[in-house]
Amino acid sequence: MPLTKSGLPIDIRPARGKLGILTPGMGAVATTFMAGVEAIRRGISKPIGSLTQMGTVRLGKRTEGRSPLIQEFVPLAKLDDIVFGGWDLFPDDAYQAAVKAGVLSKEHLTALKPFLSTLKPMTAVFEQEFVKRLTATHAKKGKSKADLAEQVVADIENFRKTNDVDRMVMVWCGSTEVYREPAAVHASLAAFEKGLRESDPEIAPSQIYAYAALKSRVPYANGAPMLTLDTPALMELAKKNDMPISGKDFKTGQTFMKTILAPGFKARLLGLDGWYSTNILGNRDGEVLDDPDSFKSKEVSKLGVLEHILQPHLYPDLYGKVDHVVRINYYPPRGDNKEGWDAIDLFGWMGYQMQIKVNFLCRDSILAAPVVLDLALFMDLAQRCGMSGIQEWLSFYWKSPMTPPGLYPEHDIFIQLMKLKNTLRYLRGEELITHLGAEYYD
Ligand SMILES: NC(=O)c1ccc[n+]([C@@H]2O[C@H](COP(=O)([O-])OP(=O)(O)OC[C@H]3O[C@@H](n4cnc5c(N)ncnc54)[C@H](O)[C@@H]3O)[C@@H](O)[C@H]2O)c1
Repeated sequence: MPLTKSGLPIDIRPARGKLGILTPGMGAVATTFMAGVEAIRRGISKPIGSLTQMGTVRLGKRTEGRSPLIQEFVPLAKLDDIVFGGWDLFPDDAYQAAVKAGVLSKEHLTALKPFLSTLKPMTAVFEQEFVKRLTATHAKKGKSKADLAEQVVADIENFRKTNDVDRMVMVWCGSTEVYREPAAVHASLAAFEKGLRESDPEIAPSQIYAYAALKSRVPYANGAPMLTLDTPALMELAKKNDMPISGKDFKTGQTFMKTILAPGFKARLLGLDGWYSTNILGNRDGEVLDDPDSFKSKEVSKLGVLEHILQPHLYPDLYGKVDHVVRINYYPPRGDNKEGWDAIDLFGWMGYQMQIKVNFLCRDSILAAPVVLDLALFMDLAQRCGMSGIQEWLSFYWKSPMTPPGLYPEHDIFIQLMKLKNTLRYLRGEELITHLGAEYYD
């Protein structure tokens, strides 16, 4: 492989100065993420669930005993250097929003109140048509969508100056917008910019944030399932400005379990008749997803997982006829504590049927917060490495990983983790690990 003067395949710009993490949406996930980072900085909590903070990477042969922490192996921004910013439809500061989200205990909220109260959202870009169940009280007004995009660009610049940040990343933590396929206005950057000026109804608010971020040379990650970035126009802008993009839909809860179990069944060539997944969820996300058009975005993102893992075209006898159903029901008493049930109907030797039931009593935002942190830090690393376009090595974090046109996504969480760690090894000029046995290896 060709090496740079430093002896590495890629020169990585050091993580000097502050990193701004900007979240459109300051609800349950974003405030739990911000609160957790501050709790870790103060020594109240440990970064549980975060690969960048607690994970290690094995280097060389097993006999070498080299397994540094990932954060010591690659130059990541330090938690102390992170500053937060965001936008929301409501004027609540992060403390008030966290109280309403009901994720954190009173004890944590009280301890973190002085910090969280300082994080006030900027006014949002919003259009009711895209999130039907919420009505904004804290939104921008503009002559056109181009005007709104310029206002977000100005917010970003203002944040850069006020907080004296060296770099920024944007991670969408806003509500799930209704399902829309890319339209003519998304076919090229020129068509999109014309559409902004003409306030084309097909341009979603999330796309206005993504456009403003990429225009301002800020990498963008899409935490929700709608197709914000999956358009030729925004991919063209990412390439043009050498910006990394990544998405979509944080892999937590039920889909996280699915991507652990399904590769196991396939590895042992056990067949599947069906997989019925249902959830009850009582937070604002659940309320938004109660709207069939927003749920459609989620359903598309959740359904693709099994199809890609099981590869029915290669294993028609095992996976040719799988009934895969996904439901989400809004049930206020549970708040952010989602309950997911999976009823899995599988079959083995001579076709004998078996069942597995999974009942995951999870906490959605507790699972999502470390994913937001890791994505922000890795997207920042990617920008300092000059890696632009879709970051497939971050598929590990996504329910519906973005892939270049013509390629299918990799959903198996263990293959995704291997790809992520091999990317880190590659960046530091270490040998990639193939898990070949010692007798073949030397
Ligand atoms: N928690 C998880 O495990 C998980 C997993 C995958 C995806 N997600 C997605 O992450 C997102 C956030 O989840 P949450 O539980 O924090 O939801 P939430 O409803 O608590 O927070 C979303 C916030 O976004 C705001 N918002 C909506 N549209 C906006 C806009 N255009 N600009 C600025 N703010 C806007 C809302 O006012 C709300 O405060 C959702 O889209 C959800 O589907 C969450």
